[in-house]
Amino acid sequence: MKRIIVAVTGATGSVYALHLLQRLCQREEVFVHLVVSPWGERVMVEETGKTVSEWLSALPSDNLRLHEHTDLYSPLASGSYPIDAMVVIPCTMGSLGSIACGLSANLIERCAGVTLKERRPLILVARETPLSSIHLQNMLTLSNAGATILPPVPTFYCHPKTVDDIVDSTVDRVLDSLRLADTKTKRWE
Ligand SMILES: Cc1cc2nc3c(=O)[nH]c(=O)nc-3n(C[C@H](O)[C@H](O)[C@H](O)COP(=O)(O)O)c2cc1C
Repeated sequence: MKRIIVAVTGATGSVYALHLLQRLCQREEVFVHLVVSPWGERVMVEETGKTVSEWLSALPSDNLRLHEHTDLYSPLASGSYPIDAMVVIPCTMGSLGSIACGLSANLIERCAGVTLKERRPLILVARETPLSSIHLQNMLTLSNAGATILPPVPTFYCHPKTVDDIVDSTVDRVLDSLRLADTKTKRWE
């Protein structure tokens, strides 16, 4: 069983998180721990017209558990809890900066700090444009600490025809980073 933390923050692109959740939750060998920031929820409602719980009701619930963003009593807050990897998708510059500074003011920041200290894979789907020197410095700090900075930059060599195809070209790379590529994964052959 692979245990993955999926954190959703308030950057544009909540659809990336939804595609990732749909693909992870189809896998019997995967268990997803989901944490959504308050702005993550607000942007999701803005962009998709549905709340987190409305989206979750359409997903298999056997292998997904939702954790409160403020719940630092969650087992996820401890490095002793067995977790294989964490993805922040999409990742705001605010959360990225807090993680780079080692803050643990909420469960997403704490989990990211734990993931780094335990030397587990941390994948940050960082979404902002253009990027300031502060954003770039924070990304370099995190990359040097072992995180993977994976901005949602689409590929066009697979000839995407729909927005879903473009979204999946990033989700494919996230699944590659998790070593969880599936049969839908497209590559340059
Ligand atoms: C519609 C909308 C889109 C946003 N897009 C981004 C974005 O792409 N990147 C970013 O860093 N912040 C973005 N923000 C700002 C963040 O939501 C804001 O900084 C928030 O405090 C982030 O908190 P969180 O990281 O805890 O989710 C957006 C806000 C809104 C309302």
